[in-house]
Amino acid sequence: MAGGELIAEAVAALLRGKPDALLGVATGSTPLPVYQALAAQVRAGSVDASRARICQLDEYVGLPAGHPESYRSVVLREVVEPLGLGADSFMGPDGTAEDVPAACAAYDSALREAGGVDLQLLGIGTDGHIGFNEPCSSLASRTRIKTLTRQTREDNARFFERPEEVPHHVITQGIGTILEARHLVLLATGAGKADAVARAVEGPLTALVPASALQLHPHATVVVDEAAAAQLALADYFRATYAAKPHWQGL
Ligand code: PGA
Repeated sequence: MAGGELIAEAVAALLRGKPDALLGVATGSTPLPVYQALAAQVRAGSVDASRARICQLDEYVGLPAGHPESYRSVVLREVVEPLGLGADSFMGPDGTAEDVPAACAAYDSALREAGGVDLQLLGIGTDGHIGFNEPCSSLASRTRIKTLTRQTREDNARFFERPEEVPHHVITQGIGTILEARHLVLLATGAGKADAVARAVEGPLTALVPASALQLHPHATVVVDEAAAAQLALADYFRATYAAKPHWQGL
């Protein structure tokens, strides 16, 4: 089964047991197949997502409200609307706020008041970031402002007309915030992610590779295609483990 469908099935299973689950979603190209597969399940009637709640992982700072590449717009377009949900099912940090620290603290509080994230979907940057926690982010960090690396701005330039339009600043759930979600699911595809995946999964726990913080989480799942798995030393073991995984365990 393709990674997107596999994760969509895990989300559907979560929603069958907890219809108002809080789903943390990620932007970027990688998770789009998850949202498409989940929306297809909703249309087919195999899962009811009408009470699902959606929350955002990160956001650009300073894009005008309603900018098509603001992550609020992307999540509404790619996740909330295809699932048939309304904007009241959705929460995210305010990237247009004048008082950015207050907006960050408010989002951390809002996540807590909402009961915490049940399943957080994550991508991984070529530099090892999760959310927009760039290398050397504190492993205990909370939602806060970050400055993007040159590499991330170059990676994301494809979404903008001109590379210089990519904002320098972002709000991101901190690594400590992300680790509070009950289940973390990281999806990575393509050879460009192979080095970051290997360093996150098999390398030392280090702020230099923020995704290595998943090693601290009691329930973290990494879903990769063959290309993104290419540098994993224990790939054979991971394959065997997955093949023998007890059905009751889920993802
Ligand atoms: P991508 O982004 O899925 O577009 O590669 C991943 C990320 O930056 O976290």
